[in-house]
Parts: sequence; C-alpha cells; structure tokens
Amino acid sequence: MTSSLQDTEFYNDIDLSFTKAWDLIEPGASKRSSAAHTPVVGTVDGDGVPQLRVMVLREADRNMRRLRFHTDLRSTKIGEIALNSNASVLMYDAGERLQLRLGGKAILATDPEAVNIAWSGSTPFARRCYMSEMAPATPSEGPTSGLPQWIEGRQPDEAQLSDARENFALLLFEVRSIEWLFLANMGHRRARWDWQDENSSWTGRWLVP
Ligand SMILES: Cc1cc2nc3c(=O)[nH]c(=O)nc-3n(C[C@H](O)[C@H](O)[C@H](O)COP(=O)(O)O)c2cc1C
Repeated sequence: MTSSLQDTEFYNDIDLSFTKAWDLIEPGASKRSSAAHTPVVGTVDGDGVPQLRVMVLREADRNMRRLRFHTDLRSTKIGEIALNSNASVLMYDAGERLQLRLGGKAILATDPEAVNIAWSGSTPFARRCYMSEMAPATPSEGPTSGLPQWIEGRQPDEAQLSDARENFALLLFEVRSIEWLFLANMGHRRARWDWQDENSSWTGRWLVP
C-alpha cells in the first residue's frame, strides 16, 4: 500500500478524487507497470452474456473522455459491439487500493488516417499478431499460433506486414461514467461521476461503499 490517509487529499474531496482517477488512467497507456496498462474490457454478446478480456490501453485522454485499444477486426468483440455498443472497462491498482469501473460506448474507429497512424506507431512484433491467417477464435485441429509458420519466432519487416494492415482495428471507448472505490482502513470511499450531454459536464456524487 503506497497511500496513507495523510497523503490522500482526495479522501473526502470528490473533485480531487475525479482528478486522481484520471491521473491513474492516463499514464496507463505508456507505463507498462501500471494497473491501467492492462484493464479488463467488457462487452455484451448477442445472448446478453457479459464478455470480458484483458486489453492493452494504448491511449487515454480525459478531455476527449476517450480510451484507445488495438484489436483484430475479425475478433469476436468487434461483432459484439456492432450489435451492442455498451461496454465497460475495469482496473484495480493494488498499490493505490483503488478500483475504477468505467462505463461507456465501444466504437470501431473508421477514420483510415487514425488507423494508419496507430498501425505504423506499433512495433513489428505487436503487428505480427495481425498476420494470423484465420480469424481469432477459429477452431483448430491442433495447437496453433495462427501465424504463417515462416514468421513464427521472427520479426516481420514492413513488406511482410503490409497485408496484415487490413486485419488491424482501433477500438475506441467513450467514457460516460466512472465509478470509484477507494479502500481504506478508516472506511472506504465510493463515488460515481456521470457525463451529462445536456451541459457537457461531469456530475459526481458520493455513494455508500
Ligand atoms: C496481457 C494481455 C494483453 C492483451 N492485449 C490485447 C489487446 O491489446 N488487444 C486485443 O485484441 N487482445 C488482447 N489480448 C487478448 C484478449 O484478452 C482476448 O483473448 C482476445 O482479444 C480475444 O477476445 P474476443 O474473442 O473477446 O474478441 C490480451 C491478453 C492479455 C493476457
């Protein structure tokens, strides 16, 4: 535990708690050791069943209320969000004793320029995943990486990666609510902020933990 109540000015301050939440989320995109780097992303499938998976946070911006993830365009989650864009993102920072539950909408980015920038900004090894010949979750007769055999264990060059670009997708998450749970021996704190479209602002309130 890194936080004692003396250092946690946000303990009884809802605005500071909000700032603290984003201070935890935003650096998660670049700080690999951070809890926010690999949140759990939840979608809902066609049967109404929640589907959860870990994803790497690539970018977070409090002013845009947006998170960015990378995924395979052929993956199951892409079909799910086309049917139902409701999504949630969960992170727990054990050092900070802080759980954040984000609610919002998952959106497939369609701007080709934005997709190209994200594609070329990723490492060749990260982009190699998109060289998989079959869609993710396709049943296989035996154990498989899905990759063509000649690239297994090797780093692809730009020419070898060019066909994989069409499998690469940007998944954006528009944050519409943030729920905060701070664990403290003195007594936990829970709060929730909801985005108000009418006046383009967040409304926050304390909740009983
Ligand atoms: C540490 C870790 C990081 C991951 N990062 C991503 C990611 O950034 N994008 C992604 O699509 N899947 C990522 N995955 C794989 C997903 O958890 C999931 O297995 C995959 O996306 C298939 O999900 P779906 O069938 O619901 O579409 C990651 C898994 C782990 C364990």
